[in-house]
Amino acid sequence: MANKAVETKELLRLLHKVDFFSKLKMGQLDALVRKVKKESFAKGKTVIKEGEMGDAFYMISSGQVSVWHNKSMFNKPIFLTNMEPGEFFGEMALVMDQPRSATVVAETRCDFFVLYKDDFRKILMENPEISVCIEEALARRMARSAKKRG
Ligand code: CMP
Repeated sequence: MANKAVETKELLRLLHKVDFFSKLKMGQLDALVRKVKKESFAKGKTVIKEGEMGDAFYMISSGQVSVWHNKSMFNKPIFLTNMEPGEFFGEMALVMDQPRSATVVAETRCDFFVLYKDDFRKILMENPEISVCIEEALARRMARSAKKRG
């Protein structure tokens, strides 16, 4: 098999493991494979910085990230959560057209599937189930952030 075909097959296998994609039909998944980019970050690297503009949505293929608010009243970062393979982040800035709401750090070496804004929005428009799943996560996360910030 040509290298490209092997890569596509491997990508499809990995995408199936991500909860977000398990809701897509096989034909949609095929179309998506052409849009998704793979990106890796070394342990300790900042993937997303709070306050910056962003145009990418990340799904964790392997590794672990931590999520933080930069400042509390006492000028210390506030820990929000850890995320693992199958989970996603970076949806808020894209859905709400706002700067990044938190900082995301790679706690281990991480591999991500990345979708850029226009493709992400198109998928949400074409897949109401995914749209609901993203909106639910967004609402949950905003409530948690508000509680942690006090
Ligand atoms: P975004 O604001 O685009 O960039 C930072 C990301 O961190 C954000 O999208 C969410 O995906 C994630 N995030 C923000 N707040 C929380 C939270 N309270 N719990 C979990 N994830 C969060």
